[in-house]
Amino acid sequence: MSHTLTTPDTLIRSLDRAYQRCLNIDCDATYGVDEFHTRCTRCGDLLDIAYDWDRNPVPRSLSEFEQMWTRRWDPIRLSGVWRFRELLPYAPIEKIVTVGEGQTLLQQADQVARYVGIRPGKLHLQYEGMNPSGSFKDNGMCAAFTHANMIGARRAACASTGNTSASLAMYCAVTQLMKGVIFIGSGKISYGKLSQALEYGALTVQIAGDFDDAMARVQEVSKALGIYLVNSVNPFRLEGQKTVMYRVLESLRWEVPDWIVVPGGNLGNSSAFGKAFMELKQLGLISRVPRLAVINAAGADTLDVLYNQRNLKWSGGRPRMEIACWYYDELDREHRKADTIASAIEINRPVNLKKCLRALDVCDGVVRKVNDQEILDAKAQVGAGGIGCEPASAASVAGARLLRQQGVIGMDDRVVCILTGHQLKDPTATVAYHTTDQETFNEVLGKRGVNRASFANRAIAVPNEIDAIVKAIQLYS
Ligand code: F0G
Repeated sequence: MSHTLTTPDTLIRSLDRAYQRCLNIDCDATYGVDEFHTRCTRCGDLLDIAYDWDRNPVPRSLSEFEQMWTRRWDPIRLSGVWRFRELLPYAPIEKIVTVGEGQTLLQQADQVARYVGIRPGKLHLQYEGMNPSGSFKDNGMCAAFTHANMIGARRAACASTGNTSASLAMYCAVTQLMKGVIFIGSGKISYGKLSQALEYGALTVQIAGDFDDAMARVQEVSKALGIYLVNSVNPFRLEGQKTVMYRVLESLRWEVPDWIVVPGGNLGNSSAFGKAFMELKQLGLISRVPRLAVINAAGADTLDVLYNQRNLKWSGGRPRMEIACWYYDELDREHRKADTIASAIEINRPVNLKKCLRALDVCDGVVRKVNDQEILDAKAQVGAGGIGCEPASAASVAGARLLRQQGVIGMDDRVVCILTGHQLKDPTATVAYHTTDQETFNEVLGKRGVNRASFANRAIAVPNEIDAIVKAIQLYS
C-alpha cells in the first residue's frame, strides 16, 4: 500500500535527514519518510530506513546517552526506545508516540549459565517481557505508531502469532490514534495474547489458516483498503527494535558482548539488531560487533534450512532469493506447515529473510534450530531463575546451549540471550510441562514429541486434612 500525504511543516526537517531506501542494491529507489509503502513500488523488495548522519547530530560516545537518565520526567527520555532517538532520527519530536516502553532489564543469570555450560557471570538474559504489553514488540510498535502519526493514518493492521496483535491493540487503546485490525490464524494463538487483543478492543479477524496465510492476506487487504501495516515488513518498526541492542550495551556499560542469541520467527529482531550494530560501527560508536545467533524452532526451520543446507547467504547484497522461492514451492507441494509449541515463532515464510541475511553477514552470524523438548527444558530453567518467559523466548537459551555443546560459543564468552516475551503469555505450555496429569501432558506436549519434563515442579495432591497437609509439606520441603 502507499499513502503520500501533504507534508506538514513539522516533517520538513525529518525529510532531509532520513529517507526510505530499497534493500535491492540494483534498484536503490528512495522514498521520503512522509510516505508509506510496505515494499518498494519499483521492484517489490523490502525497504530500509537510511539517514544522512551528517545532518543528524549523534553523541560522540554512547555513554553520553546516560545523561538522558536524569530526564525521566520527559516521556521521550523515559522511553527505552526514544531516549536513543538520535540513533533513529526519522520523526519530529511532536509526533513521537510512547507509552513508556522499553523499561527492560539485562539480568545476569548464573543458574541458566550453568545449564548452558558457560562460566557463571558470563550469561545475561535481556528480559523484554517487561514491556507494557509483555513482549519486545512494543519497541517496534511505538516506532511504527510514530510514523503512522506522522502521515496521519487512521487504521492499522497486522497478522500475528499473538504478540504483535497484543501490542498493536494496546497502542490503539492507549493512544486512541488509530483503530486496530488484527489477523490471526485459527487456533494458533495462545489465550494470554488473544485476551489482550480482545480486551483492548482490536477488530479481530480469525483466518482459516496459519500465520503464513494471515501474513499474506493482511498485506493484500491493507493494500486494498489503505490500512497502515505494522508487521515487521514495516521498516519503521525495526528502527524501534534496534534499541533493544542499545539497552543491552547500556547495561553492559557500553561493552560489546561476544554473542547475541535471539529466537527467529519473522526475523524482524535479528534484522534490526544487525542494522543497529552496522550503524553503530559506521558511526564509530563501537569498535567491533558481536556475533549473532538466530535460533529457529525445529518445526519452523526455514532460516536454518536455507542458510545452513542451501547456502543462501547475503552475498554482498545480492542473495539468491530464488533459493527461498524454490523452498516455499516445495513446502506447498508437500503441504508442510510450521508446527511448534513455540507458537510465537511458528512461521515458515519469514518476511524479513533478506534483511536477516544482511544481519548474519554483518555479525558473522550462525543459525541453529532446537526442538520443542529443548525449548521447554530451557524455559523451565529460565523460569526457575524467577524471570520466566514464553516458549519462543526460551529458544534463545536452548540455542546457546546447543552452540556451547558444539564448541561454537566458548565457555568464557559473554553471551546475551534475548527473552522476547513474558512468562504469562502462554500458560498452557507451562502448566502442561509441570502437570501431574499424563493426559494433559500428552494432549499439549506429547503430540509434539516432548516426552519428558526433566525440570518439572509438580503440584502435590493432598487430602483436605491438616495432618496430611503438614506431613506433605515436611516431606517435600
Ligand atoms: N519471540 C516472541 C515472543 C514473538 O512473539 C516473536 C514474533 C518472535 C520471538 C520472533 O521474532 O519475528 O522478530 O523473528 N512474533 C510475531 C507476532 C510474529 O506476530 O507476534 P521475529
